[in-house]
Amino acid sequence: MTVNGSSALGAVVPEEVALAREVPRGEPILEVRDLVKHFPLTKGIILRRQVGAVKAVDGVTFDLMHGETLGIVGESGCGKSTLAKVLMNLEPATSGSVRYKGEEISRLSGAGLKAVRRNIQMVFQDPYTSLNPRMTVGDIIGEPFEIHPEVAPKGDRRKAVQDLLDVVGLNPEYINRYPHQFSGGQRQRIGIARGLALKPEVIICDEPVSALDVSVQAQVINLLEQLQGDFNLSYMFIAHDLSIVRHISDRVGVMYLGKMVEIGSDAEIYDHATHPYTQALLSAVPVPDPTARETRDRIVLTGDVPSPANPPSGCRFRTRCWKAQQRCEVEEPLLVAPSWLGDAARHDSACHFAAERGVERETG
Ligand SMILES: Nc1ncnc2c1ncn2[C@@H]1O[C@H](COP(=O)(O)OP(=O)(O)OP(=O)(O)O)[C@@H](O)[C@H]1O
Ligand code: SF4
Ligand SMILES: [Mg+2]
Repeated sequence: MTVNGSSALGAVVPEEVALAREVPRGEPILEVRDLVKHFPLTKGIILRRQVGAVKAVDGVTFDLMHGETLGIVGESGCGKSTLAKVLMNLEPATSGSVRYKGEEISRLSGAGLKAVRRNIQMVFQDPYTSLNPRMTVGDIIGEPFEIHPEVAPKGDRRKAVQDLLDVVGLNPEYINRYPHQFSGGQRQRIGIARGLALKPEVIICDEPVSALDVSVQAQVINLLEQLQGDFNLSYMFIAHDLSIVRHISDRVGVMYLGKMVEIGSDAEIYDHATHPYTQALLSAVPVPDPTARETRDRIVLTGDVPSPANPPSGCRFRTRCWKAQQRCEVEEPLLVAPSWLGDAARHDSACHFAAERGVERETG
């Protein structure tokens, strides 16, 4: 992937060189450090004053590796979409750092910012509302070329859009149709084609299949997997549910109330989860095998999710955690690999008593 390596004055500037470099597969393409996004809560009509803040994202750290799919899961309101928007630079961070190919995105401007905007794209949840009903499919998919004409010069755009329709499994002759003439799954293919138009390196998929019928979800996930191989993409794939991300993710991060509580490889999360919240989410995943279904205990979480404007002290999960002890109230657990766990289960987990299900640790 290359970007225009010249500034307005014709001189090559270092950040553009950095953004044009190829990151080897398996090395970080996005580095997120202690990222915070608070939305101020204000009171008063004439004299507005801040009375608090919704702590939507509250100190999140992780890397997205080149070529991988990182699944991000968690209940509604835990901060997944806010995280995505800050990574895309659509919302400014309150504090913390997001580096794309080593460059701090909040400090970029001009050509550097344009390159990041081109290279990190998003596919949204709802294919019914995210596509403008008054635009043809050709105009929707080709719209990004208006801002980045270097990717497809004017004379080549129709062909470029038809190629994209073909790539996502739609008939290139549909180019003049309107969104309402397509099914939900087809609309999401249009959203994906638009996301691919600028030949990005990273695609953030925010619940791309949640609004679709189960039978169509698998088709869209298969398409995303195929495109990842064909175009060397890195994905962040957001979902409510661990069952949806299972098939597509190399690693999975679990969020609760603005925090990442556990992150690990596919096997570490699905077979060796050590955080009680992840274990509760896993226990709710449908199991196709009837025998396994009967023998598995479902963990039913009691209590509501606390408000992100006023999260519990210490561990944020403590008001719903069946393992909570005094320490959990006063000391926030760090997202680290607990030293007491065996090799297979040792991965980052923000719990003082991290342990695989059925193997309890009594003291922290
Ligand atoms: N612009 C905003 N102003 C104030 N609060 C906001 C804003 N955007 C999001 N929030 C709040 O931040 C928290 C996190 O919201 P977010 O949309 O990121 O959650 P989510 O995990 O994507 O949820 P869902 O699964 O429902 O999409 C919520 O409490 C939400 O109400
Ligand atoms: S730190 Fe305590 S409250 Fe939090 S998940 Fe672990 S046991 Fe539960
Ligand atoms: Mg969301």
